[in-house]
Amino acid sequence: MRSKIVAGNWKMNKNLVEAKALASEIVNIARDELKDDVKLVVCPPFISLSAVSSILGDTQNVFLGAQNCNDNKAGAYTGEISVDMLTSVCASFVIIGHSERREYFGETDDFLAKKVDTVLAASITPIFCCGEPLEIREAETQYKYVTDQITASLFHLNEEQIKKIVIAYEPIWAIGTGKTASAEQAQQMHAEIRKHLASKYGESVASEISILYGGSCKASNAKEIFSGEDVDGGLIGGASLVAREFVDIAKSF
Ligand code: 13P
Repeated sequence: MRSKIVAGNWKMNKNLVEAKALASEIVNIARDELKDDVKLVVCPPFISLSAVSSILGDTQNVFLGAQNCNDNKAGAYTGEISVDMLTSVCASFVIIGHSERREYFGETDDFLAKKVDTVLAASITPIFCCGEPLEIREAETQYKYVTDQITASLFHLNEEQIKKIVIAYEPIWAIGTGKTASAEQAQQMHAEIRKHLASKYGESVASEISILYGGSCKASNAKEIFSGEDVDGGLIGGASLVAREFVDIAKSF
């Protein structure tokens, strides 16, 4: 059975003091209210990973993730963070290929393929992001666009490796805009992604891969979006910055 996951991408928000407060609040609410079959992941900025890791401690259902990492193992890459550094603070997830990184930092499909390899080699779970811009949706070529992204960055992996990937479908037109994909649009795309995975790896492997939805997801619309049979959770931006809202999204299952 694939995991249900709700991950919070804090992006470039919350300083160290604020990050510690938010993490503590999430842990306290999740401990009391969250069912064991849903995994929460919090992805604070690098500078707060270590402190947030201590706050999570041995909490069972809240995991630590990073928002990025370098594709090299180590070396002269000023300002960068390696997978080994993420492991050293007990981060078990890392977001790869977010549309903001593709757009503002020029991350390409080929580059992301290499980054996925580096992350898997460190036994960290990549949350691999894909999603189309508005003009592609309007041209109705979104399925090809997204499945091409997956082919280019993930289809060199073998069966054991692909099973370790979490995919996040984030339509760019829905990110931070308040304009959510409808539950039907989300389910349709997730089903296409799963079909695409099955065409390469078979139905059984494809059925084990969690596919999350991201883009203006909040407590008030999560239940409907998560009702799609191929929607296994969410990658949450703005709404993950409020502990009550974030845990309530996870409680929508
Ligand atoms: P919002 O939830 O703020 O739209 O952001 C989604 C996102 O980009 C998560 O990675």
